[in-house]
Amino acid sequence: MPYRVTVREPLVVLAPAKLNLGLEVLGRRPDGYHDLVTILQTIDLSDRLVLEPAPRLTYQPPSGIGDELVARALRSLAAKGVVIEARLSLEKRIPVAAGLGGGSSDAGTLLGAFVHAGLPRSLATPIATQLGSDVPFFLDGGTALARGRGTDLEPLPPPNGWFVLVVPELTLAHKTRQLYAALTPADYSDGLATLRQAERLRLRQDLDPRLVRNAFLRPLLAFEAVRQALDAFVTAGTRWAWPSGSGPAVFTWCPQREAAEQLTLALETSGLRPILTAPLKPSWEQVRTAITVEQLH
Ligand code: C5P
Repeated sequence: MPYRVTVREPLVVLAPAKLNLGLEVLGRRPDGYHDLVTILQTIDLSDRLVLEPAPRLTYQPPSGIGDELVARALRSLAAKGVVIEARLSLEKRIPVAAGLGGGSSDAGTLLGAFVHAGLPRSLATPIATQLGSDVPFFLDGGTALARGRGTDLEPLPPPNGWFVLVVPELTLAHKTRQLYAALTPADYSDGLATLRQAERLRLRQDLDPRLVRNAFLRPLLAFEAVRQALDAFVTAGTRWAWPSGSGPAVFTWCPQREAAEQLTLALETSGLRPILTAPLKPSWEQVRTAITVEQLH
């Protein structure tokens, strides 16, 4: 079904990073992917999608980004007969290939903006799923329990508190694929710890750090920079720090703002560049007034 998406007034849509508040891998699937149980959380560290009125679609991708998911999302929309009238650009802020979902968020948030403006979800979701396992989550963002390939989503209430994260240097071609390939059955678990954590959130209880698992911890510990970052958290007095997704970003959760600030300072003292961040639930209000979606006959 053809649609026309028109940007009526200039707007900036924030494409937030995500953290995995636990990520358990259950095992390998016949289709080559792995079955997961993970909790996804958008945070207030964001790329910026800049949309302006224009008679036809133009998109200038930022330089130096290899696998450009926004361009692929736009091509998939065009292939489904969605005509977009907008000038689009992307300003990157989220560290790339860090386990923070930056590229997935850029594409997923753009699709989400169109969905919240009226494009059928049934059109956007298959595009998102094809682009990557993390992409469908960003159609709404917030907090969600993700299962299967990572695309079966159940919204959850958000956790309280703050997160402090560090992104160690790690250059690895096809990082996500490589880290999945490094998993062995010893890294698999039954998902129950993450399911119990999800239940705590449903009951609006605090996160329980003892329930956080990350299947990629063992393969990530092979990298010196990751070990150093995790050690720095311990030296700074933190009891728990975990990778996000397949890393290399590592983070901890602080129920109190003051403790998060102190930890940030301590990590800076050890020469790292910590990021103090909080859960963020995207607001789609501006999108509804600035973008119109019409069905074409
Ligand atoms: O879905 P996405 O394109 O982000 O996945 C990149 C790679 O990570 C896949 O090709 C696959 O090797 C691996 N992966 C996996 N199981 C998942 C998600 C990703 O094995 N649930």
